[in-house]
Amino acid sequence: MSERYDLIVVGGGPGGYVAAIRAAQLGFKVALVEKEEPLGGTCTNVGCIPSKALLDSSELYHQAKQKGNDHGLEFVELKVNLKTMMRRKADVVAKTRDGLNYLINKNKITRFTGHGSFIDSSTIQVLSGREKTKISGSYIVIATGSEPTELPFASFDEKRVLSSTGALELQKLPKHLIVIGGGVIGLEIGSVYGRLGSKITVIEFLDSIISTLDRQLGKALQKSLKAINFEFHLGTKVTGINVTKQGVVVTAENAKGKSFEFSADHVLVAIGRRPYTEGLGLTNAGIEVDEVGRIKTDKNLRTTCENVYAVGDVVAGPMLAHKAEEEGVAVAEILAGEKPQINHDTIPGVVYTWPEVATVGKSEEELKKDSIEYKVGTFPFKASGRARAANEFEGFVKVLADAQSDEILGVHMIGPRCSDMIGEAVVAMEYKASAEDIGRIVHAHPTFTESFKEASLMATANRALHL
Ligand code: FAD
Ligand code: NAI
Repeated sequence: MSERYDLIVVGGGPGGYVAAIRAAQLGFKVALVEKEEPLGGTCTNVGCIPSKALLDSSELYHQAKQKGNDHGLEFVELKVNLKTMMRRKADVVAKTRDGLNYLINKNKITRFTGHGSFIDSSTIQVLSGREKTKISGSYIVIATGSEPTELPFASFDEKRVLSSTGALELQKLPKHLIVIGGGVIGLEIGSVYGRLGSKITVIEFLDSIISTLDRQLGKALQKSLKAINFEFHLGTKVTGINVTKQGVVVTAENAKGKSFEFSADHVLVAIGRRPYTEGLGLTNAGIEVDEVGRIKTDKNLRTTCENVYAVGDVVAGPMLAHKAEEEGVAVAEILAGEKPQINHDTIPGVVYTWPEVATVGKSEEELKKDSIEYKVGTFPFKASGRARAANEFEGFVKVLADAQSDEILGVHMIGPRCSDMIGEAVVAMEYKASAEDIGRIVHAHPTFTESFKEASLMATANRALHL
């Protein structure tokens, strides 16, 4: 007889462990199956957390080196010790994992370490080494995440041809790093090494970086990144990667048919991620996937099998940890008979470069495409007192509001601490605030958040106070 649970969650990343915790809070008997020893999935182990640890360390170095003098700080011998930086990153990851283990124990969730697969719609086999354990559940949540996409002509060896995982583990500072893909991963990890002194060459297929976001953001970010050793080849297709004794040689061709050859220590391939369902035995439970391998779900995240749900990177929508978490919470609450709602129009996105990029809602391009009439209000950080105090002049906040109702439809920022500032814009949009509402709310002075207020005043009536 297999042991029986109310809920089995397969996958211990932010989608899975959060679903497990919320279900346990609601009184379910929960099993969590994760194939790797540590919990936390991509985000904790090889994604959000280690990348942000290295971004913070490298930004500290960059600030000290490039801006220290302006602040009256003189460093006699400022050096990078990459090994120590990597050790600190590993420590941050380890502490985060410890925190997760604590939460799993505290919520009395039963942890199974091993590869989970469906035997039928309510039974999961957990394979650990040669040992097989069967567990059954009234409900099952799939949260198996995603994996990096490879180029057809170059597999990851994590020595020269790197995925994000290998790129977060380098023990020697590369002289030159080629990044294929001008998206979030390429620009964040490129920033880490660019700030530390590596030359970064970005080869992007499309004619802009971070192309899914409001176009103005990509343009501004590209300009800023050039100051930290980035070189961009947009509208350029990679045609080959050769690994040599010294490094890699990448060949590429631009839209006009001009060929390029680049030599570097490593190439980071960051061209997107794809859903991961390998060995999951989906057909044993009648669970269908779509044309790009994502598990098909209805609006309540229920799969084509009645008692099985799926959340996070393995289903449609942005591949973001906070989206996965909210879906995990929602599924647990749906199973408990509650009526949660996720507003997919207000999921924020952040690129943790410096300046930071943060966005929520519709871009100008999307509003134009949907023929929605809108007003634009922009406020540059160079007009902000706080930004001046901090010596941070780059970037702006842009508010898009409905031309008639003044309701905020999108907020797009590039500048200092935008990752924290976007929260206010999310609240504003969630509660359907107008630009005038934000313009009339008291914002502490001097803060970066005043720039959101000023941009809102610009959008509502072209009447910023400090412009
Ligand atoms: P995952 O975190 O991928 O977890 C899935 C888990 O399932 C894994 O632990 C896997 O081992 C396990 N698993 C898979 N198959 C099985 C099986 N059959 N049996 C048992 N276990 C299984 N997002 C952000 O919001 N902010 C960021 O700053 C950010 N930074 C990132 C940086 C990098 C370099 C990368 C790669 C990603 C980043 N992301 C970020 C994206 C974020 O990591 C993902 O969106 C998030 O981890 C998705 O969560 P998930 O639970 O769906 O999947
Ligand atoms: P991405 O989708 O952000 O960017 C991939 C880029 O590669 C695109 O600009 C695309 O046009 C380009 N591209 C695709 N094929 C190409 C080719 N053959 N040659 C050249 N360019 C090519 O994907 P990325 O950066 O790999 O990140 C994957 C996911 O991870 C993202 O979708 C994001 O959701 C998540 N992530 C989120 C972070 C955050 O929230 N800060 C940080 C890192 C990752």
